[in-house]
Amino acid sequence: MPVTIKSEDELNLMRKAGQLLAQVHEELHDALRPGISTLELDSIGEEAIRKRGGVPNCKDYEGYPASVCISVNDEVVHGIPKAEVILKEGDIVSLDTGLIYKGFHSDAARTWGVGKISPEAQKLIDITQQSFFEGIKYAKAGNRLYDISKAIDSYIKPHGYGIVRELTGHGIGKELHEEPYIPNFRQFFKRGITLRPGMTLCVEPMITMGKRKIAFLDDEWTVVTLDGSLAAHYENTIAIRPEGEPEILTIIN
Ligand code: MF3
Ligand code: CO
Repeated sequence: MPVTIKSEDELNLMRKAGQLLAQVHEELHDALRPGISTLELDSIGEEAIRKRGGVPNCKDYEGYPASVCISVNDEVVHGIPKAEVILKEGDIVSLDTGLIYKGFHSDAARTWGVGKISPEAQKLIDITQQSFFEGIKYAKAGNRLYDISKAIDSYIKPHGYGIVRELTGHGIGKELHEEPYIPNFRQFFKRGITLRPGMTLCVEPMITMGKRKIAFLDDEWTVVTLDGSLAAHYENTIAIRPEGEPEILTIIN
């Protein structure tokens, strides 16, 4: 499927889908505390989506069983919420969720600490978030797609963290995953498509404290670091504008 360009009317629906999702993430963050199960968090997320008129876009996606992907500590992405997984002080937890509103998708992820966490874990979370902002500085009309990838890679590299390669960011719109796919590491000898106004993209660095290699658990969803090191994930849906820096649709404005 080709890369889609959204009209201003379509963008307005994407904006709405994004703002609702930002509110859902706030509710999830407010609910986060030691002692809560990941299944309870998923219910809070699903309810927060539905009461705003959204439909969770993770639920039943390729058979995924929940509305919020919840990944704890060495889990990178796509962890499955469970009643037995009780968050405890010192954990880090990635919440990745999205919704459909009037036919348009939004998608965003945050990693939070549960209670007091180690300075090293906090740094991983902060650097992962910042790498998103470094990347999207290049998400401008006329630039090339992999300028974003290179900026994320260049920012992460000096910290010695791993950048997950098997999963990427993506276009988004009437589908959750559209072209183009957006790697978080530098591409050699190719620059990717030229960015145009009206493109809507999910930029989502997945960063590990140790080596970048991942494995899948037997549930066929949960992605973990092979070396057991902590991982963080940060994602927003953005729109390329005619001029200047992109609009971030999934942060409350
Ligand atoms: N929002 C995540 C993504 O962009 C997860 C999609 S839903 C899942 O890939 F079912 F794949 F978990
Ligand atoms: Co995504």
